[in-house]
Amino acid sequence: MNDDILRVLYSKEDIDAITARLADQIKADYAGKNPLVICILKGAIMFMTDLVRAVDDYMEIDFMDVSSYGNATESSGEVKILKDLDTSVSGRDLLIVEDIVDTGRTLFYLKKLFNTRNARSIKICALMDKPEGRVVDVHADYVGTTVPNEFVVGYGLDYAEKYRNLPYIGVLKPAVYQAEE
Ligand code: PRP
Ligand code: MN
Ligand code: MG
Repeated sequence: MNDDILRVLYSKEDIDAITARLADQIKADYAGKNPLVICILKGAIMFMTDLVRAVDDYMEIDFMDVSSYGNATESSGEVKILKDLDTSVSGRDLLIVEDIVDTGRTLFYLKKLFNTRNARSIKICALMDKPEGRVVDVHADYVGTTVPNEFVVGYGLDYAEKYRNLPYIGVLKPAVYQAEE
């Protein structure tokens, strides 16, 4: 295990089981709809790629890169678009895929944006929900698991761009970020 990890919250096997359950629901709900899956970079990259393979049905994929954390452990409150979609969302059924909902600002911003772009429907699939972090009122339609109010990394989630490639999700040792603050 990586030395900076306090404890593992979800192993790759745990994540695969959660993903399989969500994929079954999504496959049933979107049968015949050809949804546009929107992967929110960078955090959702691992989850999205595993999720769409587990769904194994017609869907299109696009990417949007938004960031609100920078290199800090707390959200700046300002959501920036670093890369927009290539696809028009007008008239489409959208499934936004996120790694985690914390303050809710990222998803609140995206839902509003896609509404103004005339999406037909907008649903959110989040691997993790951290309800204690919520600042704005937004909820995911598909939630993998609820996590405690600790800083989690791995399986796409970073601290200062590190740890995204860990195959599991773990709690970061507070000493790692306290040393830099
Ligand atoms: C993280 C995470 C979510 C968002 C959740 O992304 O991946 O997208 O924050 O937080 P919120 O509910 O408080 O908005 P981040 O901005 O760190 O960018 P990244 O995915 O590139 O790491
Ligand atoms: Mn993100
Ligand atoms: Mg981040």
